[in-house]
Amino acid sequence: MAPRIVLITGCSSGIGLSAAVALAKHPDFKVYATMRNTGKKGDLEKAAGGGCLDKTLFIRKLDVKDDKTFKPVLDEIINSNGKLDVLINNAGLGMLTISEAAPVEGVRHILETNVIGLFQLTQAVIPIMKKQKAGHIVNVTSIAGFLGTPYSTIYCASKFAVEGMTESLAAELMSDNIRFSLIEPGPVKTNFRENIQEASGTGLDNPDVDEDTKKRFVAVLTKLREIYAPVTQTADEIGGVIVKAVTDEKPCLRYQTSEDAIKRAKFKLADPSGNSFLSMYREALE
Ligand SMILES: NC(=O)c1ccc[n+]([C@@H]2O[C@H](COP(=O)([O-])OP(=O)(O)OC[C@H]3O[C@@H](n4cnc5c(N)ncnc54)[C@H](OP(=O)(O)O)[C@@H]3O)[C@@H](O)[C@H]2O)c1
Repeated sequence: MAPRIVLITGCSSGIGLSAAVALAKHPDFKVYATMRNTGKKGDLEKAAGGGCLDKTLFIRKLDVKDDKTFKPVLDEIINSNGKLDVLINNAGLGMLTISEAAPVEGVRHILETNVIGLFQLTQAVIPIMKKQKAGHIVNVTSIAGFLGTPYSTIYCASKFAVEGMTESLAAELMSDNIRFSLIEPGPVKTNFRENIQEASGTGLDNPDVDEDTKKRFVAVLTKLREIYAPVTQTADEIGGVIVKAVTDEKPCLRYQTSEDAIKRAKFKLADPSGNSFLSMYREALE
């Protein structure tokens, strides 16, 4: 049987790297693992090894903020394989900052990467999948896509946006046999935390922010890290959930990646008023 063709974004590290390697090692898939800076391909090459590289795993440049980089990869995929079966929108950036100090350029950078870039790539892929009358689009969001988190305002806004976009597209394109899935991890040990300030500073060095706010920011983050430490997953675990999503005969719309993430999703849905959500933070952080 011809392999299923996969395009993944953000494969220089973390979840994208793990998912790309796991799929390239799976007998059913051929993977186009993309990154915005191919100068960072060393870790992926090492993890893929000679068995996969340029056989079932091809590393290409794709920057989700630069739509000019989409066409060469999509043209190569179609010219070499005649189809694209799976798009995995994984690339993403975080932003952890005192909200009133968040610079608007940083806010734009996050939304352009996590929301607009993801949407533009999805728009480029939909006509290909419509023509095929088949396809699966997997969007990596987070528990931050359904639960707000203090100081992650813009990151949460971006992931909530992708959740709404994905539900809408799933309903819009179901008659074209294009399926959508959301991958919703809790905390994962990757470079994400180191990369989180690409868009802005925390606001701690901002002279316009009062000292009580700065102290509270540090205290809340320390507490949240304590809460999340025992439930932190590895990138390989999330890669495994992505493999499950793309090999399930009838893929779900949502995959929470851990028992803790499932518990949080149920908690959110159980009280439509939102009062329990606020009490949860009051109890945990005050
Ligand atoms: N780690 C967590 O706790 C966690 C939890 C839930 C969900 N997630 C989500 O999982 C996804 C992957 O994150 P990760 O944890 O694996 O972090 P990561 O190791 O920092 O990986 C993020 C990837 O996105 C890439 N990227 C950033 N901007 C890009 C752009 N404009 N075009 C293409 N690629 C771009 C990065 O490339 P560079 O190497 O060039 O920066 C990197 O390859 C993200 O969507 C994130 O929101 C993470």
